Amino acid sequence: MTANHLAIDARSLRKVFGEKTAVADLTLQVQRGEIFGFLGPNGAGKTTSVKMLLGLIAPTAGTATLLGQPLTDWRTRARIGFLPEHFRFHEWLTAAEFLDLHGRLFGMSKGERTAVIPDLLALVDLADRADTRLAAFSKGMLQRIGLAQALLNSPQLVFLDEPTSGLDPLGRRLVRDIINSLRQEGTTVFLNSHLLSEVEQTCDRVAFIRDGLILQTASLTEFSQSEIEVTIRIGQLTPELLAGLARFGTDVRAERGNGHAHSQRIRLTLAHEDKIPGLAQWLIANGHALYELSQRRLSLEDQFLQIVGNKGDV
Ligand SMILES: Nc1ncnc2c1ncn2[C@@H]1O[C@H](COP(=O)(O)OP(=O)(O)OP(=O)(O)O)[C@@H](O)[C@H]1O
Ligand SMILES: [Mg+2]
Repeated sequence: MTANHLAIDARSLRKVFGEKTAVADLTLQVQRGEIFGFLGPNGAGKTTSVKMLLGLIAPTAGTATLLGQPLTDWRTRARIGFLPEHFRFHEWLTAAEFLDLHGRLFGMSKGERTAVIPDLLALVDLADRADTRLAAFSKGMLQRIGLAQALLNSPQLVFLDEPTSGLDPLGRRLVRDIINSLRQEGTTVFLNSHLLSEVEQTCDRVAFIRDGLILQTASLTEFSQSEIEVTIRIGQLTPELLAGLARFGTDVRAERGNGHAHSQRIRLTLAHEDKIPGLAQWLIANGHALYELSQRRLSLEDQFLQIVGNKGDV
């Protein structure tokens, strides 16, 4: 695959602040047109990673390209949008003036600004607030006008750092709809979040980051379509049974105290549900009394806890 297919190509980016290693090794590739979720607990290094990619802070080490160009290429910036985590708003401006100012900062002509600003205000559901000063905006309204700002220059790549923080359920759905329409247009979106359900609903792929390290990158279509958790209830738990189950799946664990005097509940993770018939046959063929066998799809939260949760609190 050539670099041209990549919206982001980061190689061993690292950021150290004094004693603190905020990002130890950021190596990741994001395809053009992909909606990429960057998921991790507070302090994991998400914002620092985005700031390095945007050239807002200098990496301690490592290299990266955005849209095929090195980070230092300032012309590429005109094709990138950014919604920062802590946006500083010019409170004395109205919503329309604020977008106009940012349009000028992007180098857009008066004609371009006049053409896109009403559409953007409508997109973030603030069309009737064009002439309201930002000082009178609620937190959620500020978040939405910030998002409009990130899309002003019709970017090919947008970084959204916690875009739904402070939004109510309606506002969160609006952001989800906007991300989906960006997907239709082929825009690449890099979404920082610690909200699992949000990433699950919007992203194509996700990286789990903790303590400045990417622990795993995974496609969400794989996540949601294949891995399942199976629960079986069996007459007697033996070491042979547990060893046998470990051949079918991973994370085999017996549930304690489940209120059944003559049976024992065990859970395990299977790579795909097509393993279930073989598992059932093996249990019966080995003389196990089978009381229950059920399956449930793993949510992203289950995956997240499996991947990052074992190392302490999330
Ligand atoms: N300018 C700085 N100086 C010193 N330490 C910093 C600085 N910026 C970030 N850090 C530290 O680096 C680590 C990563 O911070 P970062 O803001 O990237 O995390 P995050 O994943 O975005 O967290 P959150 O979900 O809370 O936004 C934290 O321990 C933070 O305290
Ligand atoms: Mg952050």
